[in-house]
Amino acid sequence: MIKTKMTEMLGIEYPILQGGMGWLGLAELVAAVSNAGGLGVLGSVTHPDPEKLRQEIRKVKELTDKPFGVNITMLPALRELPNDGFVQVVCEEGVPVVETSAGRPEKYVEPLKNAGVKLIHKVGSVRHALNAQKIGCDAVEVVGFESGGFPLPDDVTLWNLIPRIVDAVDIPVSAAGGTTDYRQLTAALALGASSVTCGTLFMATQECIAHPNLKQRLLQATECDTVMIQRTINNQNRVFKNETALKILEMEARKASFEELIPLISGERGRKVYLEGDADYGTVPCGQGVGLIKDIPTAKEVIDRMVTGAEQLLKRLSS
Ligand SMILES: Cc1cc2nc3c(=O)[nH]c(=O)nc-3n(C[C@H](O)[C@H](O)[C@H](O)COP(=O)(O)O)c2cc1C
Repeated sequence: MIKTKMTEMLGIEYPILQGGMGWLGLAELVAAVSNAGGLGVLGSVTHPDPEKLRQEIRKVKELTDKPFGVNITMLPALRELPNDGFVQVVCEEGVPVVETSAGRPEKYVEPLKNAGVKLIHKVGSVRHALNAQKIGCDAVEVVGFESGGFPLPDDVTLWNLIPRIVDAVDIPVSAAGGTTDYRQLTAALALGASSVTCGTLFMATQECIAHPNLKQRLLQATECDTVMIQRTINNQNRVFKNETALKILEMEARKASFEELIPLISGERGRKVYLEGDADYGTVPCGQGVGLIKDIPTAKEVIDRMVTGAEQLLKRLSS
């Protein structure tokens, strides 16, 4: 049993959080992660309006009575996100945890606190972690360069970010990025993190709705099969190295404008990859830990392996 400041604060069994995942962070996966002792987190970004999010929250509640969260992303998006409405629904539905990313979550601190919701904010630097603590966030997730999705352009890996940030703040810190294996979980705890936050790992589980073709491509991938796109538009995004990602890099190399990139980077194309299975058609956030994924287990198997492996490793290291 690995108890940490994060497991105590969130009331979960194991220090493993599933980071919010647009399109893929749906009720079945979220409940499976929470039922297995981790923290499942629903995506909000892909719900057209707050009422649709409410329906998905209610589905999770039917499937689990364990704590779970909702991700609220403040990244620049092609459509204006109804985040105020999402937060209101979260408070009304008594969701235990909110995970915010990008932007500034200040205006949500008070309503969430009043509703008894724990707020975890994603940060990519010491400065942002200190600010999150100052404004009243309950915990931070430190996003490293190896992470799938949107790490900061400082390009610092978790190897250095975790110890720097745990030295700087008093609130619990979760390590987000590149973790797909029990050895990395153990190393993150050794560096001072109170949990890991994983996205790519849970994309490759049975409960995730991603198309089997995409999951097969993930199995074949190595740690070299991700690339960083959208650097030229100040919105860098680590994605699976497929034909669309390479095309985007080619366009960026010749300084294509944001407007030219939109058709390729749009979330709608990514959605088609997940649902229809042409794994080259759009971009898919993916971390460097993909190289260690060797099968498509259930979320419970994933969590059990991580925990058992880490416990045995900790025992071996202390003997
Ligand atoms: C397919 C996918 C979709 C994601 N969508 C979101 C999102 O909507 N909001 C967000 O804050 N993070 C999103 N992320 C980032 C994850 O929450 C998490 O921080 C990240 O995946 C951790 O890195 P890893 O993939 O290397 O484990 C996404 C990640 C993946 C793999």
